[in-house]
Amino acid sequence: MLVIIKPTPEDVSSEAARIVANAIRTTDRITLGLATGRTTLGLYAELVRLHREEDLSFRHVVSFNLDEYVGLAHDDPRSYHFFMDHHLFDHVDIDMLNVHLPDGTTHEDYETYCAGYERAIEAAGGIDLQILGLGRDGHIGFNEPTSSLGSRTRVKTLTEETLRDNWGEAQADDVPQCAITMGIGTIMEARKILLLASGTAKAAGVARSLEGPVTASVTGSVLQLHRDVTVVVDEEAASALSQRGYYKRVMEMTARVTPS
Ligand code: GLP
Repeated sequence: MLVIIKPTPEDVSSEAARIVANAIRTTDRITLGLATGRTTLGLYAELVRLHREEDLSFRHVVSFNLDEYVGLAHDDPRSYHFFMDHHLFDHVDIDMLNVHLPDGTTHEDYETYCAGYERAIEAAGGIDLQILGLGRDGHIGFNEPTSSLGSRTRVKTLTEETLRDNWGEAQADDVPQCAITMGIGTIMEARKILLLASGTAKAAGVARSLEGPVTASVTGSVLQLHRDVTVVVDEEAASALSQRGYYKRVMEMTARVTPS
């Protein structure tokens, strides 16, 4: 696990965009696993800028989003579909036939639908680079605490904390209580994972995910078992990490041995 600590959330976004853009530029075809949430806003804004100003093309990108709320239609401004259109897809040259998001209003039964989502990922050759944010309790996707570490795409009931974090205290009762999410087993099959977090609210979740025991109570902790994870956090999100000094030393050494 490579842990990169940056001074500010803006630096987290630009480092993440640099990693994603580099991955897009160095392959003929790439399948990205995409995440939503406040943490990803700066990343997508920077990718859009790179598309407009520095010729970053998404023509050969295939994408699969991590999750979607059950019951929200594509054009509902609260849906992750809407989020992705608004913050990324409407502004870059991605072929929308290559874009996949779980459908929160599917007419199939959810089990059949989710199995189809898994098959579509497999048919695309699997995910090359999976972008992840982190819930405050250290969850990834909507894999809330106690999710099976082998889980596949399915419907999960959201915790009250997640509802409050994502919708605010006032709205938390009047919003979807469930979501379709890639499972932990699905996420772990990605060839490379990029985990992003910023702000003090994420500090405990980051520390438990990176340095705590591997447990279904903190689903981000399973990433310790993956062979290629890069974590980009700001100083605030890194503040509870006991090995912070070591991660910085690794960054310094890496810079010294990497040819410029
Ligand atoms: C939700 C999403 C996660 C996301 C997390 C953090 O629970 N399902 O994928 O990582 O929120 O969101 P934010 O970046 O808004 O803090």
